[in-house]
Amino acid sequence: MKNTAKLIIGDKEYKFPIVEGTEHEKGIDIRNLRLQTGHTTYDPGLANTGACESSITFIDGEKGILRYRGIPIEQLATHSTFVETAYLLLYGNLPKKNQLKDFSSKFTLHAMIHEDMKNFFDGYPAWGHPMGILSSMVCSLSAYYPELEKIEIPKKDIGTIAVELISKVRTIAAFSYKKKMGEPFVYPRADLKFIPNFLNMMFSSTNRDYKIEPEVVHALQTLFILHADHEQNCGTSTVRIVGSSWANLFASISAGICALWGPLHGGANQRVTEMLEKIQRNGGNVDKFIQKIKNRDSNTKLMGFGHRVYKNHDPRAKVIKARATALLEKLGVDDPLLKIAIKLEEAALKEDFFIERKLYPNVDFYSGIIYRAIGIPTDMAPVMFAMARMAGWVSQWVEMRETPGMRISRPRQIYTGETERDYIPVEKRK
Ligand code: SDX
Repeated sequence: MKNTAKLIIGDKEYKFPIVEGTEHEKGIDIRNLRLQTGHTTYDPGLANTGACESSITFIDGEKGILRYRGIPIEQLATHSTFVETAYLLLYGNLPKKNQLKDFSSKFTLHAMIHEDMKNFFDGYPAWGHPMGILSSMVCSLSAYYPELEKIEIPKKDIGTIAVELISKVRTIAAFSYKKKMGEPFVYPRADLKFIPNFLNMMFSSTNRDYKIEPEVVHALQTLFILHADHEQNCGTSTVRIVGSSWANLFASISAGICALWGPLHGGANQRVTEMLEKIQRNGGNVDKFIQKIKNRDSNTKLMGFGHRVYKNHDPRAKVIKARATALLEKLGVDDPLLKIAIKLEEAALKEDFFIERKLYPNVDFYSGIIYRAIGIPTDMAPVMFAMARMAGWVSQWVEMRETPGMRISRPRQIYTGETERDYIPVEKRK
């Protein structure tokens, strides 16, 4: 009986099985709830609702644990690369030497986008937000890869499709930066690995070489690894829901990019930098800013703080803060925003307002400091997040599509509108 939940409605008692995951998280299986009781659940924001079973990423929000396929992200951030982590997420295990070599070489092979797609950029204004460009370009990829319209995606191909997408998104991101800067596009090079290639496409030009600094590569490697997946967040759930209608992979990912763009989600990293710049313009007074948040005026939030799942420190924030501090030291960059961010974190974590609500720095609080030090524009921060999250999104999309008996996602509602009433001809309306 310990694996059964009892529900009493009126004078009737219903029983539902309890499901338990490998990390002993428990859920009440209510797949027959409406059939048995005529009731649905009601859970706006889905904070208490498990939408799927997954073996990709595990988070323990109370203990601040994050693992990809069982491996703690702290170990991956120290020892792995983004390409190797992408392989782990996609295939479930770390690659052997020859598997990694073969997988890595595919990123170079598939780095180009169809030459005709360059013309798309002529239609975007230089000031267009790069997330809007990325989402439309990714969806347009499906026009060039009609084979992806096929419903069945054989597992053996998924690595290649994932690499194509991740590699092309890197090129699209770099091209959108060049468009913004009014500079000619720089094409991917066959002799450069994933991140150095991205940096070269971004910052080199016909009249200037760009020196690829190892510590810059290392900092981006860490950020990409830490952003690669995060179980059923808003963006990933969007990718799964869109994919559940049998929409193709690129259409599903394009929707995920739009969800991630939101300032409450992946767009927060851009808002954190803008918030820190505003505090700096106002004299750097963090206490005054915190007072504004506590007064709840104008719905001001401490961007980069708080999390639906982590009610302890977001483990990623700790790693990113250390990486940002180390990078600025190595590059000899003295960014006042880092000092303001550290002061803001210290001040907030002394305030009951944040302590009572278990609000801590999340993945977005310090990442913008690294992007600024590298020269990546503030509005490209969400694009960097999306580039890394491609690995998780493809993995989650495939897992959803390969779930036996996978059904289209279609939640119910509690209707609170008008009850039945008749149509009134316009001449009789009061
Ligand atoms: C990401 O889900 C994931 O895994 C996402 C992510 C990933 O890897 O995919 O981790 C990436 O999206 C990180 C979060 C980035 N967003 C931000 O930094 C935006 C600022 N944070 C908040 O908007 C908020 O904390 C959320 C959106 C992250 C979480 O929202 P919840 O879970 O719905 O929490 P809530 O709004 O119900 O907050 C509970 C209370 C409220 O106060 P009360 O009404 O109870 O008095 O805390 C307050 C909120 O007003 N609160 C904040 C706050 N976050 C929550 N108050 C001030 N500043 C904040 N940042």
